[in-house]
Amino acid sequence: MALLNILHFPDDRLRKISKVVEHFDDRLNRLIDDMLETMYDAPGVGLAAVQVGQPIRLIVIDVTDDRSDPKVLINPVIMAKEGSQTSDEGCLSVPSIYEPVNRAERVIVEALDRNGEKFQLAATGLLGICIQHELDHLEGIVFVDHLSVIKRMRIKKKMEKLRKKTM
Ligand code: NI
Repeated sequence: MALLNILHFPDDRLRKISKVVEHFDDRLNRLIDDMLETMYDAPGVGLAAVQVGQPIRLIVIDVTDDRSDPKVLINPVIMAKEGSQTSDEGCLSVPSIYEPVNRAERVIVEALDRNGEKFQLAATGLLGICIQHELDHLEGIVFVDHLSVIKRMRIKKKMEKLRKKTM
């Protein structure tokens, strides 16, 4: 396994629309394992393939404290959503920024697992938020897009300053 490089906002590659996964092979399995390792190392609770420069419809999530429930969602689709909740979100592509975002309270998502088997998941709380956040990534949307223009500009400036410092 290997740690992957996570792209940071405002990198244009985060804006790509991810493609449907068609091949469930060793290469995909390796990417899934590397993404899980990268997410745990960060540490984070969710990671979309596009964040590591692979614009395919694959996300990994684990919202447990002891990292005991890794979830792999391939070609995920939200089948139903209801209610609304607002809570602070962060993103491995926007380090050290946390801002409130409004999301549905409950979602039902349908996806394929790493073997290509279809499953459904009903999610609330942090898991539900995380699923909605990661699905946004597949459409080239970063959570800061949900904030006001002024807030987003401020975050962009901060990120660009940070990048100059680390270069
Ligand atoms: Ni994110």
